[in-house]
Amino acid sequence: MAAPVVSPVRAASNPGQVTIEAPRVADGVACWRLAVATGALDANSRYAYLLWFRDFAETSVVARRDGAVVGFVTGYRRPDEPSTLMVWQVAVSASVRGRGVAAGLLAALADRVPGVAHVEATVTPGNSASEALFSRFARERAAGLVRRELFGSDLLGVGHEPEVLFRIGPLAQQKSGKERE
Ligand SMILES: CC(C)(COP(=O)(O)OP(=O)(O)OC[C@H]1O[C@@H](n2cnc3c(N)ncnc32)[C@H](O)[C@@H]1OP(=O)(O)O)[C@@H](O)C(=O)NCCC(=O)NCCS
Repeated sequence: MAAPVVSPVRAASNPGQVTIEAPRVADGVACWRLAVATGALDANSRYAYLLWFRDFAETSVVARRDGAVVGFVTGYRRPDEPSTLMVWQVAVSASVRGRGVAAGLLAALADRVPGVAHVEATVTPGNSASEALFSRFARERAAGLVRRELFGSDLLGVGHEPEVLFRIGPLAQQKSGKERE
């Protein structure tokens, strides 16, 4: 059901032959494991990841190496603003971090979903990798980046850091394959 998508992970930073693809429902299990293993993300239930890939596969991507999932981005179009792609979670296996896999996943997703004018994500203060990831994406797309607190600890509960919304856009019109060459 899920067609492979073009991998934009640069060859020079892709020694393990990481490919980026549309997720299959069964990938939810590996993504749940990956989310738990980060120790940084809210670990939702295994069921949540399976359901996500049943219903939001079009707005999510996975990275694979030797057939195994080594990264993912889950996203959805905001129902009240469908031109905004909300990135829910991003995770990359420690074994392939720092090689542009997350940047490649995010770029592939933004290119894959038609009509996206803005990308949103939340970042917890001090998550410098995540901050760098979204700042780089904004830079590469020549887009603005506005930050504001979305949910504070009062709502998220004791021990949960605030979630700061990064809103990136407007994104430049996508170029066709020919224009990109
Ligand atoms: C955040 C995460 C997905 C980044 O994955 P990655 O594949 O290593 O990221 P990339 O190699 O594509 O790098 C993207 C940017 O982040 C920077 N970066 C990567 N790891 C970093 C680190 N530990 N500290 C600071 N910056 C870092 C890179 O330098 C790059 O920025 P640049 O191009 O301006 O130099 C990964 O660290 C992870 O899974 N962390 C745990 C889960 C998490 O925090 N997810 C984000 C929640 S929104």
